Amino acid sequence: MLAVNGALPSATPGYSAALCHLCHAQSHHLHNILLWAPFPLPMWAIGAIVVVVLALVCCMAFCIYKKCFNKGKKPKKVRERKGGRGRRKKDKDGEEGGEGEKKEEEEKEFFGKLEYTLDYNFTDNQLIVGILQAQDLAAMDMGGTSDPYVKVYMLPDKKKKFETKVQRKNLCPVFNETFTFKIPYSDLGGQTLVLQVFDFDRFGKHDLIGEIKIPMNTIDLGQPIHEWKDLAGGEKEEQEKLGDICISLRYVPTAGKLTVNIMEAKNLKKMDVGGLSDPFVKVVLQHNGKRLKKKKTSVKQNTLNPYFNESFSFEIPFSQIQKVQVLITVYDYDKLGSNDPIGKCWIGYGASGVGLRHWSDMLANPRRPVAQWHTLQPEEEVDAALKAPIR
Ligand SMILES: *[C@@H]1O[C@H](CO)[C@@H](O)[C@H](O)[C@H]1NC(C)=O
Ligand SMILES: *[C@@H]1O[C@H](CO)[C@@H](O)[C@H](O)[C@H]1NC(C)=O
Ligand SMILES: *[C@@H]1O[C@H](CO)[C@@H](O)[C@H](O)[C@H]1NC(C)=O
Repeated sequence: MLAVNGALPSATPGYSAALCHLCHAQSHHLHNILLWAPFPLPMWAIGAIVVVVLALVCCMAFCIYKKCFNKGKKPKKVRERKGGRGRRKKDKDGEEGGEGEKKEEEEKEFFGKLEYTLDYNFTDNQLIVGILQAQDLAAMDMGGTSDPYVKVYMLPDKKKKFETKVQRKNLCPVFNETFTFKIPYSDLGGQTLVLQVFDFDRFGKHDLIGEIKIPMNTIDLGQPIHEWKDLAGGEKEEQEKLGDICISLRYVPTAGKLTVNIMEAKNLKKMDVGGLSDPFVKVVLQHNGKRLKKKKTSVKQNTLNPYFNESFSFEIPFSQIQKVQVLITVYDYDKLGSNDPIGKCWIGYGASGVGLRHWSDMLANPRRPVAQWHTLQPEEEVDAALKAPIR
């Protein structure tokens, strides 16, 4: 009885290895209980002991978690890929520690809101989507901000994807952009408009802040719609595997000659229903964001692992080489329609990760070919990265 009340002589030492103040206090308490326990206890006392022990275990677990997390914390983005919700929780813990927990509970379901317009032009069979602005967006960066942009597309075909410009470090960004889908009114019914707000990240996967899905058969397009809506925390889109491409780069500074060899690609995403793809590669040379040259490989029929070994040379004086970008896009050749992009990568000025490293390796090894595998990314993601200002 005495033991459970905790009104004890304080002769017993606490655990010296307590992890934090709170744990220290609790373990002291438990130690006392154990010391005084050897006589029969009433049921309620045993219950109370169980509660105290549970509290202690929870406390220790929390302390260990906190300790570990703080040690591993870097002043960079936490690049989890589990989806917005999990991500935010981590960031918040890192920043605010225990006191933040209650606040976090309240904010959990709020990702911000978006103002948009929808208008259907019956003469032109066009759905016009206006993305006006967003407010109170969730901060995805450790710095407590986000670099939001909005992706607009229709499900299920996803054929046409639009993106607004990236608004740097802004949780209440004004986009004020319109996008047009040419869809006959009779086809609209089965489709869903998706508005997704992403946090642009030059160095990694873009995080989904939140999204709004509007099934077209739930709205009346008889007159223009103009509204604010809260974002839902959509589950993260699984990053699709698009394939890899091996590229060799060689630069001869004295001659000012850059040679890009498209060696081969592997595990390309299947683009034709019921068949393989007919891949070819387009190489675009940009300087200061301006497109200078465009070259294409031949088309390889019916394969997802094409071998090209095709070289393209460009003249670039040494003084200019630092500002050059090489954009590599793999397409599926389509005899009838337009060629579908399978994936894209980018090497050179402003690139990140492998794209930057490959370029540096090439510059560090003049006159020698340097080969490197690159993972293909969705075309619109690479284009968004190219559009964004270089940090
Ligand atoms: C539809 O678009 C056409 C041409 O862009 C325009 O002349 C017409 O006024 C539009 N109709 C409506 C209802 O906005
Ligand atoms: C949005 O753009 C229109 C025309 O492009 C302009 O009149 C309007 O002021 C802009 N709104 C904001 C909030 O910038
Ligand atoms: C690539 O093609 C060149 C000639 O265009 C040839 O000399 C070289 O051996 C080929 N490389 C491979 C790995 O097949």
